[in-house]
Amino acid sequence: MRTDALLSRFGYCSRKDAPAWIKAGRVVQDGSAITAARQNADPARTLVDGAPVPFPNGLYAAFHKPLGCTCSHKEEGALIYDLLPPEWLRRNPPVNSVGRLDKETSGLLLLTDDGAFEHAMTSPRRHVPKVYELTTSAPIPEDAVVLFAAGTLLLNGETTPCKPAELIITAPCAARLTLHEGRYHQVRRMLAAAGAPVLTLQRVQIGPLRLADLNLQPGEWCAFNPAIFSQQA
Ligand code: URA
Repeated sequence: MRTDALLSRFGYCSRKDAPAWIKAGRVVQDGSAITAARQNADPARTLVDGAPVPFPNGLYAAFHKPLGCTCSHKEEGALIYDLLPPEWLRRNPPVNSVGRLDKETSGLLLLTDDGAFEHAMTSPRRHVPKVYELTTSAPIPEDAVVLFAAGTLLLNGETTPCKPAELIITAPCAARLTLHEGRYHQVRRMLAAAGAPVLTLQRVQIGPLRLADLNLQPGEWCAFNPAIFSQQA
């Protein structure tokens, strides 16, 4: 890509300001300073101010979302983006969450600046399984297992039933639920429909990525290889 496009893509400066950065010798590829904005540069071989371009092939991060923050870029109050490196938001396109978790849901959230990956992962055709652990304020009725598995549960205000989902009741007021789609407040609405309102909710797994294996405290993130998801398209 052109060097001015690279500087803008990775959030260093605007394309308009790029010639001044280049003229000052701040952009180096394979040991030689780039001299013109139109010169092609490979992000993986480029140093800016002596440092490698972070995530030159796209940013893919698994984040342990804490309770009490929202996945929005704009809302009032605590945002997940306040907990992430500020330079991630200067990338162009910026880093976004792949889908969302509610403010009062914790757990595994994927972050990326790759729009095609985000789109593929949230596409209804993709069926990437997502696993939630939850507790409820009332005992979960045994027949919720069959109800959720049947693929016939119609949530309030919706015209298509939820896809079959696997519910494993682990204690009278606790369960693991695996979903193959993502609707607004889906876990809370499904459990409410079964007569057991959710008290606490955590997403513990997305496809092959398990929060327990990643060793992340709330608010921490780590990079992942997006290829692990293409193997299970
Ligand atoms: N279902 C919910 O109800 N909330 C979430 O955050 C995710 C799934």
